[in-house]
Amino acid sequence: MWSASAPINCPLQVLLADVVLSNAAGNHSLFGDPDSKVTACIDTIQNAFAFTPAMFAKWQGLTNWVASPGDGGPDFTQQTYPLDREPLMGTLTIRLANGYTSVIPHYELVSNERGSDSQGKYAVVNASRAMAAVQTGDSDLGRDTPVLGGVFLSQNYLRVDYANNSFSLSPRVASPPDDDIVTTCTPDKTGGAGASSSSDSSEQSSMLNLKIGLSVSLGIVFIGVVATLCWVWYKKIPTRRYVIRWMPLIKFRE
Ligand SMILES: *[C@@H]1O[C@H](CO)[C@@H](O)[C@H](O)[C@H]1NC(C)=O
Ligand SMILES: *[C@@H]1O[C@H](CO)[C@@H](O)[C@H](O)[C@H]1NC(C)=O
Ligand SMILES: *[C@@H]1O[C@H](CO)[C@@H](O)[C@H](O)[C@H]1NC(C)=O
Repeated sequence: MWSASAPINCPLQVLLADVVLSNAAGNHSLFGDPDSKVTACIDTIQNAFAFTPAMFAKWQGLTNWVASPGDGGPDFTQQTYPLDREPLMGTLTIRLANGYTSVIPHYELVSNERGSDSQGKYAVVNASRAMAAVQTGDSDLGRDTPVLGGVFLSQNYLRVDYANNSFSLSPRVASPPDDDIVTTCTPDKTGGAGASSSSDSSEQSSMLNLKIGLSVSLGIVFIGVVATLCWVWYKKIPTRRYVIRWMPLIKFRE
């Protein structure tokens, strides 16, 4: 089930059995054919969902998307809407072919329009527009590849077992007891096992990086000082005044 073929070769593939938009008007599937299955990739880089063009067309119809605001403002993007469409985007239920189901709450699905502000910071750029975390076309994993991104993972734990070539999902627990978070680490092949040894070795390697970094920086500073002195000595011979004007500190040495 987890290894159904995807349009591209992504490691974290799942098979979608249904995606349902729920709002005040009821439950609406984004699937044209209720028996169809769609392969999707779990992606930890992209935030929004990406759906096939057919699913996305249904989504746009159900959420009453329009291309232009009709008020002289810029056109809407595929993710942005007039604010009054927000209630149409209630929750999104993702059901996988093995029965695993995840409900994405409204607050993860919709926000004000966000993007790069005038200073290049990620911020709300138009509070008069709504923005849905649903898109189609180019995504992090290529064109028309269905993606379950950060919004999906906001409600799920993803456990990737590299040694076993497998991964698993479980529903997120909103406020777990402090002592209920268990880390899992696979013994690495270079010796040692478990979480503590892997954190030790990462600490060691960051210490090593620091040492290398310091040596390199000191080396560069040293070369810089030597080069400056050579340059100064070289310049000093024919045009003393010129050197003094450029390197006032040299005066003290003379
Ligand atoms: C929509 O689906 C939910 C969850 O499956 C269900 O509890 C609810 O009754 C459904 N609503 C309608 C109007 O069918
Ligand atoms: C913000 O959105 C409103 C409503 O669509 C629009 O009138 C306005 O021109 C937009 N402002 C900018 C800066 O895009
Ligand atoms: C590896 O995966 C198999 C099947 O998915 C599972 O039964 C087994 O317990 C896993 N092994 C480890 C070490 O997690």
